[in-house]
Amino acid sequence: MSGAKNSALPALAACLLTSEPVTLRRIPPVRDIATMQKLLGHTGAKVAVADDYVQVEAAKLKRPEAPYDLVKTMRASSLVLGPLVARSGRARVSLPGGCAIGARPINLHLAGLERLGAEVRQEHGYIEADAPNGLQGAPFTFDRISVTGTEDVLMAAVLARGETIINNAAREPEVADLAALLIKMGAAIEGAGTSTIRVQGVEKLHGTEHSIIPDRIEAGTFLVAGAITRGDLVIQNCMPDHLRALIEKLTQAGARITAPSPDSLRIRAKKLKSVDVKTEEHPGFATDLQAQFMALMTQAEGISLITETIFENRFMHALELARMGANIRLDGRQAIVAGVTPLSGAQVIASDLRASASLVLAGLAASGETVIDRVYHIDRGYEKIEAKLKGVGARIRRVK
Ligand code: EPZ
Repeated sequence: MSGAKNSALPALAACLLTSEPVTLRRIPPVRDIATMQKLLGHTGAKVAVADDYVQVEAAKLKRPEAPYDLVKTMRASSLVLGPLVARSGRARVSLPGGCAIGARPINLHLAGLERLGAEVRQEHGYIEADAPNGLQGAPFTFDRISVTGTEDVLMAAVLARGETIINNAAREPEVADLAALLIKMGAAIEGAGTSTIRVQGVEKLHGTEHSIIPDRIEAGTFLVAGAITRGDLVIQNCMPDHLRALIEKLTQAGARITAPSPDSLRIRAKKLKSVDVKTEEHPGFATDLQAQFMALMTQAEGISLITETIFENRFMHALELARMGANIRLDGRQAIVAGVTPLSGAQVIASDLRASASLVLAGLAASGETVIDRVYHIDRGYEKIEAKLKGVGARIRRVK
């Protein structure tokens, strides 16, 4: 598997916290990463991209800003807010605006920075944050769990004076991976990966080298590919521990999952039965695997109830799956999927990154040809997905 996009993005932003070079390995060459690298360059950092590493050197931050043109293509650009305020005492970051899967405001990021003493105001579509005398550590509790919110406040806190306690923090593996990088850079952090993170601010951070964790969402997508095609597939270079909730649900559905080695998983599936799924924050069932699992449940015997608790509008793929013959009824944040319904290939449109993955999986299970439009969504977060699938027997090709 490739390195995790959702770990690589905050790791790249974290490079802004030091004037020394940081070398990151297993950075996936996907579109969102290219956007983040462009953004770092815009702030004045030097970014060198080699085959097996990316090196960032933010010796001087000439422009502590994330312009609208970049932020509008990738909302995770707001991850530079915390590092820029902490390192240079000010930041100007475009507000991300709406997204296909939900409103996705960043109010909690801003509340966290204000708690650390930044003055935050909104002007002309931009957030202006200032802390001319530096940030001050403080306890902060997230009203609701936010992954990039936790990462943003954590990156601000490492250079703040005194102690910061982040309560109701996100426990995603990507947060723990970011903390591992920051600790290698000289930060004092305890409790990353739990709901309470303690940070002792330090004067400055230094350069280091770090390998990004494997992408659990990519690995999960391939596990579902193995199940939906009734195949026998081994997923290598993954971390089974990061996929417990999915493994549990696939096993309940009747798939057989084993771990041939500590960093690989094998899935075999014949007849599948329906199971109910409710998305939750980690270690619950990941919302980024909901669309893929819905495609699978169209091929499982019985009725499954899928409840999406994280984003308010993350069922766009259901309508496209229905165009392929799936029987799905939507009711607010719940989808009722009846299976097994034979899928037939059709022309469909991808609305977001994970929706496009679910359409590829449905296409693998459908009779005839499926043509997916707007696949640029999939390139945002999957490295060479068609080559990887072809490598395990899929008939898939990219049409210019
Ligand atoms: C991260 O997004 C991931 N992105 C998302 O993956 C993932 O779906 C999401 O976490 C949940 O797991 C990255 O890591 C780059 P949140 P993030 O803040 O941090 C609300 C993918 O497919 N909220 O945890 O933006 C928010 O609207 C992407 O790879 C506020 O109200 O998600 C949502 O309903 C898609 N105010 C909920 O909290 C805030 O300030 C959780 O969002 C922040 C969030």
